[in-house]
Amino acid sequence: MIEPFLNKIHQGDCLDLLKKIPDNSVDMTFADPPFNLKKGYKSYKDSLALQEYLEWCEKWILEMVRVTKPTGSIFLHNIPKWLTYYAGFLNKVADFKHWISWDAPSMPMGKTLQPSHYGILFYAKNIKELKFYEIRYPHKRDRKSKYLSKDYGGKKPILHPFGSLVSDVWTDIHRVKHNKYRDEHPCQLPVHLLERIVLMSTDENDIVLDPFNGTGTTALAAKRLGRQFIGFELDSEYVAITNKKLEQEIPNSKLGDCWVSYYLDKVVTLRDSDWEELKEYFYIPEKPEDIDHTSIILKSKVTVSSPLKNGYNIEIHNMRLFEKETIYPAANGIHKKKK
Ligand SMILES: C[S@@+](CC[C@H](N)C(=O)[O-])C[C@H]1O[C@@H](n2cnc3c(N)ncnc32)[C@H](O)[C@@H]1O
Repeated sequence: MIEPFLNKIHQGDCLDLLKKIPDNSVDMTFADPPFNLKKGYKSYKDSLALQEYLEWCEKWILEMVRVTKPTGSIFLHNIPKWLTYYAGFLNKVADFKHWISWDAPSMPMGKTLQPSHYGILFYAKNIKELKFYEIRYPHKRDRKSKYLSKDYGGKKPILHPFGSLVSDVWTDIHRVKHNKYRDEHPCQLPVHLLERIVLMSTDENDIVLDPFNGTGTTALAAKRLGRQFIGFELDSEYVAITNKKLEQEIPNSKLGDCWVSYYLDKVVTLRDSDWEELKEYFYIPEKPEDIDHTSIILKSKVTVSSPLKNGYNIEIHNMRLFEKETIYPAANGIHKKKK
């Protein structure tokens, strides 16, 4: 039975815990394991002998595939070196979909090219049955002039007003840099990275499992997006940090009736199939060629029919802002009023 595991972070060894999850019961599994790089975790020694590390990885990878439904996906995040081995394990039991390159700098080790990306392996349990949604992200622009960074030549007028379809190279999501957004954990991932993965591979109420919870990035993304989650984590302090964060989250990462991913006050990922419904929430330049220098922006003052918190009544443009203490730039026309 999977029910007792749902929407909880379970403290313990993921190999033991995975064994308790029934076959074909989870819609998406995501793992960000220790990289065997001598990182300073509280309960885990991150420096195994090569063969020992790989044998251990193969065991939990095979378990992840076993618990995933035939329509489901398996994501593995790591440095390229370990992903080359992971792909070998996965090719025997699942179907390759993508090797996503996430542009994010890491520490140089010895005499090497500067390591500047992590990989995210994306496998289908069964490629013929895979649930998958195309997603879009905002066009990249010059920070000052706001012109499009890429030269699309004569194709500008036919560009999608929101942004391009997401490719297998992700350059728009950055590591958590500011200490005020970081937990006491050496390698916390950004939530909107996981939200993107959740949006492209699952539906509302689907089950997402992360065997290496850390401080709960995957669980948080799943909860914000109205999915169910299961997290496993060896360290009780990381479990406690996650539970505290989860208590403060509600499933409200929406625009209208559609689930979307926000970073600060901007939508950073949406589903292509939701665009017809979502476009009314944006100011879109009238002349298609103006997309070259004018971003589309979210409209303000959309009334939200949600329970109000903290005695504030807020005129907002999206669900995620309704709880915030501080409100976003006046330029967007968003403001909050005391009740
Ligand atoms: C790279 S971190 C994951 C970080 C996570 N993605 C986040 O954003 O917070 C790996 C985590 O796996 C945990 N861990 C290590 N071995 C484990 C095991 N056998 N079972 C469960 N968790 C384990 C470590 O304590 C660490 O928190």
